[in-house]
Amino acid sequence: MVETRLIDGKAFAEGMRARLKEDVAAFVRETGVTPGLAVVLVGEDPASAVYVRNKGKQTVEAGMASLEHKLPADTPQDEVLALVRALNADSSVHGILVQLPLPASIDAQAVLATIDPAKDVDGFHVVNAGRLAVGLDALVPCTPLGCVMLLKDVLGSLAGLEAVVVGRSNIVGKPLAQLLLREDATVTIAHSRTRDLPGVCRRADILIGAVGRPEMIRGDWIKPGATVIDVGINRVAGVDGKARLVGDVAFDEAQGIAGAITPVPGGVGPMTIACLLANTLTAAKRQVG
Ligand code: GUN
Repeated sequence: MVETRLIDGKAFAEGMRARLKEDVAAFVRETGVTPGLAVVLVGEDPASAVYVRNKGKQTVEAGMASLEHKLPADTPQDEVLALVRALNADSSVHGILVQLPLPASIDAQAVLATIDPAKDVDGFHVVNAGRLAVGLDALVPCTPLGCVMLLKDVLGSLAGLEAVVVGRSNIVGKPLAQLLLREDATVTIAHSRTRDLPGVCRRADILIGAVGRPEMIRGDWIKPGATVIDVGINRVAGVDGKARLVGDVAFDEAQGIAGAITPVPGGVGPMTIACLLANTLTAAKRQVG
């Protein structure tokens, strides 16, 4: 039985945002330019609306400008593309984020491909994904970046460690695997078709849940002492009928087995926005410098 350490992403993100606020203030003093983040939200997805509101609030708290563009769900694709092109051309906008998921009538890849890679603070453009893959400077997706920051805080060096990423999305699984490789971890990407998924997970010194399935990763899939990062945010009905948030890892079962684990909420989630703000300042520095 090990004592499982709780990884406090909320506190880590608060510290990051405080340092960032000072960096933004210094940048504004030196250049006279206020970094601007434009967020495009199409439709009424309630979870997306919450994210966008939080992003806007924290952007302003960090001393940057937040520009929100809310479009109805039936907005034609051409209009979304025209808005992105206008934001590309607007020198007061240094970062552009199109909230996903987009309505099914819109080709998300076409929209992401239209964002100027220099303003792509989500790191979803193929140019940034490619630059990350070949080891060039890139704007890196925020959630994976937050995961690696937490891992380095807990473990120091990740070199030589076995990392298993459960989930192969473009937003988390694939870029996270690239970042872990960059840190010299030995990386496996597992997914729903992986044979003996519990056995593969049991090899992991670093185990990442990024599949979006409530509590799929059980306690006995975790190697004793492993560091567990839970990216899942799943809304499930509690015993009292009220909705509650759970991760992709069965958190209670992991206690006494994992060496350290992120809670849901309060683990990876707050890191995503902090990294988005950091990416926005980075993008502004490159555009203005
Ligand atoms: N939807 C869920 N997570 C994200 C994210 O990190 N960025 C964007 N743009 N949309 C999301």
